[in-house]
Amino acid sequence: MNVILTQSYEESARKGAELILDAVSRKPDLLLGLATGETPVAIYRRLCEAYQAGAADFSRASSVNLDEYVGCREEDSYRRFMDENLFSKINIPRENITIADYAAPPEAEVTRLRQFFETHTVDLQLLGIGANGHIGFNEPDHDGLEAPVHISPLTQSTKEANAHWFADGAVPDRAITMGMGDILRAKSILLVVKGESKRAVLRELLNGGKVTTNNPATFLLLHPDVTLITEESLTV
Ligand code: F6R
Repeated sequence: MNVILTQSYEESARKGAELILDAVSRKPDLLLGLATGETPVAIYRRLCEAYQAGAADFSRASSVNLDEYVGCREEDSYRRFMDENLFSKINIPRENITIADYAAPPEAEVTRLRQFFETHTVDLQLLGIGANGHIGFNEPDHDGLEAPVHISPLTQSTKEANAHWFADGAVPDRAITMGMGDILRAKSILLVVKGESKRAVLRELLNGGKVTTNNPATFLLLHPDVTLITEESLTV
């Protein structure tokens, strides 16, 4: 694992955006795996700024999102988050964007996305991490983690961590998520860790050397091309 330590979240975001922009310039038709939440916000802002400054071109790029809530309102959906933070501000073609439909029958969406991953390989997967070690919405589970796209029941702690995004604080009970296999098949992975609450799972990832379904992010230790960017202060 290639670890980049920074002095601030803004620096993490700048370095993360640089890596993504470099990947897009080297392979303009790449497939980007994208995350939502607080971690990527400043990364996406920088991608938008690069595009608006004429320094980036996403016209041949494609994207697939890690996850989406099941049955949420449009204004609370990750689709809306992505439109507001990235898609509406860069020139990625609409037809090149893949994200689960929050309003569609979830089983049909799982089938559609499993088919997508049968024929597509993510070139660069951007990840955040939950305070409980989840990546995507692959929540810790003693019994095992699912490899393909699936419907994931959200843990109480994940719902509490994300409640502030919802106007009424009511987070759906379930999400559709890329599975651990989909994530680990990405050619390269960029994990950005932001926030005090991630300290314990980050330490396990950096020091442990042990892969455990109780901290799904530790499975990244099995991947040959992972870059982890985080603030140095979170690692001590
Ligand atoms: C979001 C996702 C989640 C988040 C994680 C961290 O698409 O897949 O795994 O990356 O919950 O969220 P933030 O960045 O809000 O701390």
